[in-house]
Amino acid sequence: MDYSQKFHELVQSQLERVKKIKEEKDFIDYQNLDTIIIGIIGGDGIGPAITSQAQRILEFLLKKELQLEKIEFRTIRGCTIENRARVNKAIPEDVLNEIKKCHVLLKGPTTTPRKGDKWANVESANVAMRKELDLFANVRPVKVPELGIDWTFFRENTEDLYALGSQGINIDDDIAFDFKVITTPGTQRIAQAAFEYAKNNGKNKVTVVTKANVVKTTDGKFLDTCKKIALDYPEIEMDDWYIDIMTAKLIDEKRRREFQVMILPNLYGDILTDEAAEFQGGVGTAGSANIGKRYAMFEAIHGSAPRMVEEGRDIYADPSSIIRAGAMLLNHIGYSQQAEKLLKALEICSVSERKIAITGRSDGATGKEFADYIMDTIKKL
Ligand code: IPM
Ligand code: MG
Repeated sequence: MDYSQKFHELVQSQLERVKKIKEEKDFIDYQNLDTIIIGIIGGDGIGPAITSQAQRILEFLLKKELQLEKIEFRTIRGCTIENRARVNKAIPEDVLNEIKKCHVLLKGPTTTPRKGDKWANVESANVAMRKELDLFANVRPVKVPELGIDWTFFRENTEDLYALGSQGINIDDDIAFDFKVITTPGTQRIAQAAFEYAKNNGKNKVTVVTKANVVKTTDGKFLDTCKKIALDYPEIEMDDWYIDIMTAKLIDEKRRREFQVMILPNLYGDILTDEAAEFQGGVGTAGSANIGKRYAMFEAIHGSAPRMVEEGRDIYADPSSIIRAGAMLLNHIGYSQQAEKLLKALEICSVSERKIAITGRSDGATGKEFADYIMDTIKKL
């Protein structure tokens, strides 16, 4: 293999991506759309079961807007592992075309094949969708009021080790290379998103997390770029931490209360947000927003639990995470009152009142019963 040629091609692809970022338009304004199209992607395993419950709740909250045709729901079929493996694509072409006709998406879990399992080793549908729709900001809130935890993570979602994650090179049997890519405009836009969020939500501190003491060139660029953006927000304090000590500080009961908004390159963000979600009850309770300038996608961050489907238990799967993602979707398209009601009902139904509980088995409630409980609770708010 001609490595210099291969490297040259990778560099070209990234130069093109940077050019596109620089040319991109500003954020879409949902208020200016006649109809906001919400695409529902069931995904794999328990995905269709839980996603359909979240959809029922959204339809309930947006009843008026649906009648006025200000909102339209579209079911996007075919984003399943069987289909993806069959055409050997992370997202089949026809599915991607349908997705691109929507404005925002609610997405159930999609299976990411691992080397050696029964599926063709296609790229993760999550990663592909983030790249295809340029969903550069992965926003993950974690709140545990009784512990004084109120964090919002801004994980960069298109660069770092993920940009060329499936294009590493095996030089020979002994040496393998992967590539880490950080760009100035790619970092500027995530940093701006985080600082804007802080400014608009009464937060006065933003923390940048890197390993710039060791990974000097790429993480160094990430940190320097964030520092420059911070100059535009003099009312907000910026500090920076290395990922190793940051991981430790999240379990430091005193120190962790001080963190508010965090900005991280993709991989550190992936890891730290799983740790953070654990304080809130695990990844199953967290929702995740993937935001770009034209599209936005909201998802559950747990897996597809194929075993639950094999055992016929998908109707008992917990839809909390995808419902929480639905609340983030509502907020994003400007229905913040409905979002607030939904979050309040979620809190009542899963913590403070908890008339029924989901166990994942037939001794617990079904996802449908839980969704009904949520809607009944909303009616009483
Ligand atoms: C996440 C997931 C994905 C990621 C996987 C499924 C590719 O862990 O959304 O955090 O690494 O981004
Ligand atoms: Mg993850």
